[in-house]
This record gives sequence, C-alpha cells and structure tokens, in this order.
Amino acid sequence: MRNYFLKLVLLFIPVLVQYKADAQKFEGLAMTPPMGWNSWNTFQTKIDEKMLREMVDQFVASGMKDAGYEYFVLDDGWMARERDGEGRLVADPLKFPSGMKAFADYVHGKGLKFGIYNCAGTKTCAGYPGTRGYEYQDARLYASWGVDYLKFDWCYAEQLNAKEAYATMSNAIKKAGRPMVFSLCEWGNNRPWEWAKDIGHLWRTTGDIVKCWDCEGKNGVMAILKRQDHLRQYAGPGHWNDPDMLEVGNGLSLNEDRAHFSMWCMLAAPLMAGNDLRKMSEETIAILTNKDAISVDQDPLGVQGFKWAERDSVEIWFKPLKDDHLAVCFLNKSSKVKDFVYDWKMNAVADSVSGLKGDFKKQSYHIFNIWTKEKNGSTAKPLRAKIGPHDVLMFRLSR
Ligand code: GLA
Repeated sequence: MRNYFLKLVLLFIPVLVQYKADAQKFEGLAMTPPMGWNSWNTFQTKIDEKMLREMVDQFVASGMKDAGYEYFVLDDGWMARERDGEGRLVADPLKFPSGMKAFADYVHGKGLKFGIYNCAGTKTCAGYPGTRGYEYQDARLYASWGVDYLKFDWCYAEQLNAKEAYATMSNAIKKAGRPMVFSLCEWGNNRPWEWAKDIGHLWRTTGDIVKCWDCEGKNGVMAILKRQDHLRQYAGPGHWNDPDMLEVGNGLSLNEDRAHFSMWCMLAAPLMAGNDLRKMSEETIAILTNKDAISVDQDPLGVQGFKWAERDSVEIWFKPLKDDHLAVCFLNKSSKVKDFVYDWKMNAVADSVSGLKGDFKKQSYHIFNIWTKEKNGSTAKPLRAKIGPHDVLMFRLSR
C-alpha cells in the first residue's frame, strides 16, 4: 500500500512542477490589440484624481472612445509608499483622496475600462511597493476595485525567473476571478514571445520608448521599429508584441507622428496613447482617431505586418487583412522629400507567416489612401508619389 502511495506521488511530481510555471490566462480578451491611454509617457508619477478625471472626460469628448480606445490605465506612482498593516496596497491618499474604487467607478461610469500598474519585483520601477510575495492578495484587491487591465513591470526582480513570476501573477488574476488583460512589461529581456502566450495578452519587446524619431543609441521610433519584424510570427489574436506606448502628440513633428502611428498600426501593436488629452491639437486628434488607420491595426486576422523591401531610404511594408485586403505603407526614413515610383506589377509580394501570395500581374487592387481619403486608382498602373521627410503613404488595397 505504502509503495503504491509513493508511486502515485512520484507520478504527480512532474505535473506539480509544470503547474508552477504554467498558467492559463483569461481567454477571449484582446482578440485585437488593446487600445487605450496610459499616464506614464506624459505624467510619470505626477498623477492625481482631479487631473485624471479631466483626462477621462477628454477621452470621451475628444472622440477617442468613439474611435475604439477603451482602457484608461494608471501607470506607476498611484500608490502610497507603504502597504497597510494587513499587507494591502493603498492608493496614495493625497493623490486619490476619494480612493481607487471611486476612481475606477468614475472610469466605468463613462463606459471605459480601467487599468492599473504594478511590478513583479519587490518595488516598482519608481520605488513604490512591488507585488513580489503579494500576488494573490493584490489580484483580489484589483478585482474588488473593478480593474480590467494590469500592466506588470520588471524592476527589482533580479532574483526571479521571468516565466515563473509572470505565470504566478497570471494565475493570481485567474483565481481572483475577474477577467483582466495582462500586459507583461519585462522589455523583451527574457524573450517573452517564446513563453507568454498562455500567460498574458501582450508583452513589451523593447525598453522604454523615447520621444524622438531616430536618436543615437536610444529607443526612438525608428530604433524600436527595427526590432519588431523578426517577432511577427509570435503575435496573433489574444497575444501581441508590444513595441511600447504611443508618443503621438508629445513633440514629434506632424509627419513623424503620422508615420509613428501608421507603423504601429502596421505592426498590429497595442495602441496606448500617452499624451495630455486636454491639450491635443486638431492634428493630433486626427491622427489618433483616424478610423482607417485604426482598422488596419484592429483587423481581425491579427497578422503583424512585415517589411518587404527598402529602396533609397523608403521602406515598403505590407499587412494582410481580412477579405484578402492588404495594407501597404511606404515609409520615408530620410529627411528629404522623395519622388517615388513603384510599379506594383514588377513587385509580387509573399509572406510565409500568413501564407500571402500577392502577384499584382494576376490580380489588381483598388487603392484607398488612408490619410488623404482619396481613391488613388489601382495597382494596374505604377504609383507615382512624393513622400515627405519622416512621413508615410499608407493605403488599403482591396480587390
Ligand atoms: C518601466 C516601464 C515603463 C513605466 C515605468 C514606470 O520603465 O517600462 O513603461 O511603466 O517603468 O516606473
């Protein structure tokens, strides 16, 4: 009998060890890349409930909500410096005098979803209490507040195994019982695209974005873009590569903002705006709410676009879309206007990830310009166009 019992235990050891590192996230969330707003890029830890309520109001009034943005996410700095006597996280009473539940209710009252931030390590990146050792307790607290989205960072985590740490938090969310989009933010250090599909819904692929086009040695828009293409086979409905939040409206030129937004749409990237919604120019609103660009990002096939060719500093990107449509983006990386000629028929396109085979000799497409809203003829004739410096031409091609 004892022998039998021992055998039984031995049989289950591999299952128990597996269980530790595996997780089964809430399925059916983020079937298209999440869209929303996050406080970090503009405000860092300088957030408070008065300012944030104004931001929520503008989220709706500016048309962002109507354009499809959904999650209102507080990043680092929302909490008090210490947990309470029972180990609970507490919203900073000076920043959130009405408490976090009241703030979450305000967000929900506007028909939006509510997101919050913490970190797998012992502290957050800005030095507030981290979640290490409190995963289940924190998840229950977030569920009781009505949290719908958790961004989970990777500071003060030197001793941890990334897969295990993120699986633990994912399991804690599942156990707490409230569906939450789980956003992994370990900057691509541990190749989360290889192991996080069942753990979370999106994972950062690089360090923090810097609001510049192409700045030496930093994560400007171009530097991040360069590091996405080889990860595309890992993205799809429910699990996305995250090249970090948007810097649109934060000081890039108009062309650069348009190109940055277009390329994030081509990448099927999460679209988390990071600008002060109370101070948006008409141009910024027009970029962030361009429904035709957003529909490329949100296409239900969920195929991440790819760079097909480069000619004279112009990159040519394709993204297969539903109903055999294609998005095409010509990206002028240079600081000069380019006179550009592109003969579709001489340039068949193929993609092993999506199975796309596009031969423009056999099949011609109508061309719709996503930024000017013009119909630009068809692919039967060569395209002749000028592309501004650091700008794009972005089209939807349909049969
Ligand atoms: C890290 C993340 C950022 C932001 C800050 C907050 O740097 O990558 O996106 O959340 O922490 O401290």
